[in-house]
Amino acid sequence: MSVITCVAPVNIAVIKYWGKRNEELILPLNDSISATLNVEYMRAKTTVMASPTFKENKIWLNGKEESFENPRLQHCMKELKQRARKNTDVVNWNIHVCSENNFPTAAGLASSAAGYACFVYAIAQLYGVEGDITAIARRGSGSACRSIYGGWVQWHVGKSDDGSDSFATQIAGVSHWPEMRILTLVVNSSRKKCSSTDGMRRSIATSSLLKYRVDHVVKDRVEGIIRAIKEKDFKAFAEITMKDSNQFHAICSDTYPPLSYVNEVSRRIIELIHAYNELRGTTKVAYTFDAGPNACLYLLEEDVPEVVALIQYVFPSDTERVEYFKGLPINPGSLSDELK
Ligand code: ADP
Ligand code: DP6
Ligand code: CO
Repeated sequence: MSVITCVAPVNIAVIKYWGKRNEELILPLNDSISATLNVEYMRAKTTVMASPTFKENKIWLNGKEESFENPRLQHCMKELKQRARKNTDVVNWNIHVCSENNFPTAAGLASSAAGYACFVYAIAQLYGVEGDITAIARRGSGSACRSIYGGWVQWHVGKSDDGSDSFATQIAGVSHWPEMRILTLVVNSSRKKCSSTDGMRRSIATSSLLKYRVDHVVKDRVEGIIRAIKEKDFKAFAEITMKDSNQFHAICSDTYPPLSYVNEVSRRIIELIHAYNELRGTTKVAYTFDAGPNACLYLLEEDVPEVVALIQYVFPSDTERVEYFKGLPINPGSLSDELK
């Protein structure tokens, strides 16, 4: 019997991934960029047990058994086995996997990113896989490839048909911009009605704005935000982040039938952040929303107390649906430093 437990944090995209050019290989339409949170905060924790006595592979997610026949799990397993260190008995044993998230699953807070990064990382450790594993994590969920590294991470779109050049790299470590903070505002913790996978499939089929974004908008934004991160230009960083989130949700509206991930509270948060930035005479906070109503705010440490007080004032938890928020330092290292 061999057992390993790993943790992996979520990452919050500032340039969004939305749409695949290859469903099976999970190859994206465009580069995406994110920051990885500190693993102490929102994370998946996964224990993998391998034993010659297990009759089949099994997986439990948040205490409930799920099917191991899931093609994404199968693809990850196949690639991990191909890359396994030779002559390892454990590779031929069946496994039992238990994973739990300490934050809402499938609510637009990147659970698939933390979950598959953790799954792939844990089994890579068990099998002695060496080298970059981001392209394997990508086979579980696209966004998962970015959770393998800490700090600021870019998932490269790649050109090849086999996906060999569609992997993630670190743009900058957390020490590059140590004042950066992320606040998560949980507006609604229930499961989204339409998964990210199904939503982006529908957008590809029906949204002309998605095509416009890929052909004419996103490349400049990627370049612009990399420059802003490298130069620690918060204003430019924040503007691109908010515009990209807004364009992603515009694509959701342009999808047919439309996808509405943000709700009334999300829209009030957007208005509040713009009003606050205007009041302060400069851009102090950026919002971004994934495929769900929950907001992630990027801001600098010195502004956290005032912004938290403002959120508390405008959305007192007893009367509004903003339930909690936390200041989250970005993960200080790569996932490999976080092995527990
Ligand atoms: P989210 O916005 O939370 O990423 P998605 O729709 O992208 O939501 O993905 C949710 C799916 O990701 C879940 O239904 C489950 O299949 C998978 N997932 C989430 N957490 C884990 C985990 N810890 N381990 C394995 N798979 C997970
Ligand atoms: C809006 O990575 O969850 O969060 O690859 O189908 O599993 P699959 O989708 P997923 O999509 C994430 C979409 C997003 C933006 C982002 O994280 O870049
Ligand atoms: Co996801």
